[in-house]
Amino acid sequence: MRRGRFITLEGGEGVGKSTQLRALTAALEARGVEIVATREPGGSTGAEAIRALLLEGSDDRWDARSEALLFAAARADHVARKIRPALDRGAWVLCDRFVDSSRAYQGGGGGITDDDLLMLHGFGSQGLLPDRTFLLTLGADEAMQRLAVRDAGEADRMGSKPADYQARLAARFMEMAAAEPDRWCVIDAGKAADVVTRAIVADLEVWL
Ligand code: TYD
Repeated sequence: MRRGRFITLEGGEGVGKSTQLRALTAALEARGVEIVATREPGGSTGAEAIRALLLEGSDDRWDARSEALLFAAARADHVARKIRPALDRGAWVLCDRFVDSSRAYQGGGGGITDDDLLMLHGFGSQGLLPDRTFLLTLGADEAMQRLAVRDAGEADRMGSKPADYQARLAARFMEMAAAEPDRWCVIDAGKAADVVTRAIVADLEVWL
């Protein structure tokens, strides 16, 4: 049995990752692929417990290094308990955010170096990287509008950051995509949801 494919969705808040995750799951299942759909932080019992520590409370609850360690610990549990076992039995894993979110948020926005984040990932998750990462991009104005509709103004701890932080992380995501073009595929998420889904499935066609 061949190992399954590991596919991640990345991007800022409000770009429609969760909608795409659901649509992609349905589209790929219709093609006969076993899909495990999951998200970070969380995705396993231990990681969901860490998620609550990360997303609740005041903005300054954690210092930058503790926060990076908590994300890496959550990811390690998620990889060991859910992602690797699924890939090993041949299922495809679709994950809403993964290590690249740490590289963008804790790195680009939070000041931890990329080398340090990859070192934590090397230890925690044995350096597991996705086979394909879709970066969903949206203009800042449209992302804000979508978020206002979704959250009615209420953001969680990680989402309640200022606009310049959002801009820095969008730039960091684009930088990572440009640095590793074989893994990343940049998708314009400003199009209708079904058009976005079709673009992603078209890119995955070679593996179907
Ligand atoms: P979530 O409510 O899942 O937001 P979203 O819909 O934007 O994915 O919250 C996840 C938040 O945690 C989000 O603001 C991004 C942040 N995050 C990090 O800072 N580092 C990470 O490694 C991950 C996985 C998420």
